[in-house]
Amino acid sequence: MTSTAVAHPNIALVKYWGKADADLALPATGSVSMGLDVFPTTTSVTLTGQQGHDAFTLNGRVVDDGALVRVERFLDLVRELAGSDARAEVVSDNTVPTGAGLASSASGFAALAVAAADAYGLDLSARDLSRLARRGSGSATRSIPGGVSVWHAGDDQASFAETVPAPPMAMVVVTIDDGPKEIGSREAMRRTIATSPFYPAWVTSTTVTVDDMLAACAAGDFTRIGELTESNALRMHATIEGAFPPIRYLNSRSVAVFDAVAAMRADGLEAYATADAGPNVVVLCRPEDRARVASALDGYGAVIESGTGPAAHLLRSEGSGENPEAEESTR
Ligand code: PMV
Repeated sequence: MTSTAVAHPNIALVKYWGKADADLALPATGSVSMGLDVFPTTTSVTLTGQQGHDAFTLNGRVVDDGALVRVERFLDLVRELAGSDARAEVVSDNTVPTGAGLASSASGFAALAVAAADAYGLDLSARDLSRLARRGSGSATRSIPGGVSVWHAGDDQASFAETVPAPPMAMVVVTIDDGPKEIGSREAMRRTIATSPFYPAWVTSTTVTVDDMLAACAAGDFTRIGELTESNALRMHATIEGAFPPIRYLNSRSVAVFDAVAAMRADGLEAYATADAGPNVVVLCRPEDRARVASALDGYGAVIESGTGPAAHLLRSEGSGENPEAEESTR
């Protein structure tokens, strides 16, 4: 029985940075993101039997390091839910530059959650899948629903992501460096919480920004969404830079993109910059402006345009012979 699922990355408009509970992967604050329609991850899960270990192949290469341990721990959660001790073979094709701060773990664990739940015979709602994906990687919680989504803070039951009403939007991804980042988000979050004097202010202010962002999305107010997005990204980076020893993800080329985006706004082209735990910059704009924004940023890095992405969904479920539709499988 092989189950195959696809999921897309998401880029936070209001960032998740910091856990309230590391074991349950509960965030200190809510967050809001837009799903992309580029860089899909396609993952197949095949149950192999009771003996030995799980196997993990990523982009055609057998993985036997910490990434396998993370996948095995995640599958242990699925096995616990399913009351199964069957091992699995996981084959994943991830088109996101892995570990470069473009949320490769978000699409990765969202696709794994959908495929593994199906392979182990679990009939999970979209909320359950989102809660499950959360345990693999925080941002994966938001790659289960499509469109613009909010990931709620709260306890294990309350902390899932769901789509919210929002105006049509697009993003332009400027990839400055597609290599793995020096410090992963887990360690960087731990260090920020332990040492950055700005962290308590980050939590207080982001809690307010989530509500402001949801109101702006509901009102269809693109300008307000953009202003909150850029401000919240810079607040996150300031908080991270306040850690000791300091962590700085943005480099001079990233800052040049922020400057170029500010210059676009001064010229009347409305765009707003954000960046996750890496040097790459993602620019939020109206759908009708995406080609102009992309061409203005040509030369700053590899430029890719994206619209708003779909929910994570099952592509094939070979055991049952079904070919389910996305909406049925995750909603
Ligand atoms: O999903 P994680 O644990 O790798 O955290 C990602 C955090 C950011 O991408 C920097 C922000 C976010 O909300 O996606």
